[in-house]
Amino acid sequence: MEHLKEVAKIAEWGIKGDAARVSAYLSQLIEKLSCEDDKKAVQRLHSVLADSGPNIESSAIGAHARLPVDSESRLALADEEAPRLDEFPVILDSTTSHRIEEFISFVKNADELEAHGVGLSPSLISYGPPGTGKTQLARYIAGRLNMPLVIARADTLISSYLGSTSKNLRTLFEHVGHRHCILFLDELDAFAKLRDDQQELGELKRVVVSLLQNLDNMNPHTILIAATNHDHLLDPAIWRRFTFKIPLHHPSVEERDRLLVLYLGHYMKGLNKELLAEISESLSGSDLRTISQDAIRDAVIRKKETVDQDRLVWRIAEARLKQDIDFANPSPKNLQAVQSLNPHVFTGKKIAEMFKTSTSTVSRRLKQEVTK
Ligand SMILES: Nc1ncnc2c1ncn2[C@@H]1O[C@H](COP(=O)(O)OP(=O)(O)O)[C@@H](O)[C@H]1O
Ligand SMILES: [Mg+2]
Repeated sequence: MEHLKEVAKIAEWGIKGDAARVSAYLSQLIEKLSCEDDKKAVQRLHSVLADSGPNIESSAIGAHARLPVDSESRLALADEEAPRLDEFPVILDSTTSHRIEEFISFVKNADELEAHGVGLSPSLISYGPPGTGKTQLARYIAGRLNMPLVIARADTLISSYLGSTSKNLRTLFEHVGHRHCILFLDELDAFAKLRDDQQELGELKRVVVSLLQNLDNMNPHTILIAATNHDHLLDPAIWRRFTFKIPLHHPSVEERDRLLVLYLGHYMKGLNKELLAEISESLSGSDLRTISQDAIRDAVIRKKETVDQDRLVWRIAEARLKQDIDFANPSPKNLQAVQSLNPHVFTGKKIAEMFKTSTSTVSRRLKQEVTK
């Protein structure tokens, strides 16, 4: 029988009365059936999941009311989200996607791995420059696993009463240890700086020690994801606690192409994708998303079905060169910057077309000396 494993798990946890796990395995089954395009079965099981009542609701998702709070400020120590499958797509290189798939399958098959004596505590840290999709990746994984994402709030955890930080960490780890959820420590460096950093106070060192203790005592079933922009600032002992270490980087030309397609959708029609992907070198996924959305806004306001390629190039140039370009009256510096993106493509003639001005003006301005 196909999918016997999921059906057996649903039966097992159903008998044991663990609604959260029933829901998790049911979601896995739905995902597999969706891949096989069994629409009827998917619809049927979705309605079972939706009708399953408060039992599953309260244990698997929507437990905001129970999130622990800081005893001084009464502010929640974490936020909770229930990302939906496909809500947060990520574009990754093939090695990274492969590692993520591996992580997801380890989590899904945790019981079986444990039964064979090769269980592992599922923990993953992603690291890399800002805007490369670290936070998005955590949401994507939660969506794929259909599990709530409990996002630690560094601002409340590290309270002005530094003494309470260790207590807060303990409370939060205990909370997630009792639930079927993913704990997400975003911007981990905020509380996991090197212990021997001379500038840090003794109190902050204690926070790191406390974090380490919590990581060591963590319920082995707790799924932990962390992210940091500053992996070099992390304490090596904390770094070692993670089984999956995933570097994220600025997208390659092929990934930029996919990101533009993802964020421009049908507005992309008729554009020179290759050119846009090529000239957006060094931009992050986040930059490409912002640029795409701005371009779509332009198109909507101008009542156009597609975005204007020249305006898109102009926005890419602005982001890459970190300078505002006056589209109506570009300065010599602006024009030279645009040309430097790719002198073969952005010839004087092309630039004149883009900015709707004469080639003589452009060539004069391109030759003009720019004072730095
Ligand atoms: N690799 C990527 N795939 C898809 N979207 C991305 C990627 N990188 C960045 N983005 C987009 O940029 C936005 C910001 O990314 P984020 O995950 O917050 O970056 P980080 O946490 O690394 O600073 C995301 O919401 C997403 O829309
Ligand atoms: Mg982030």
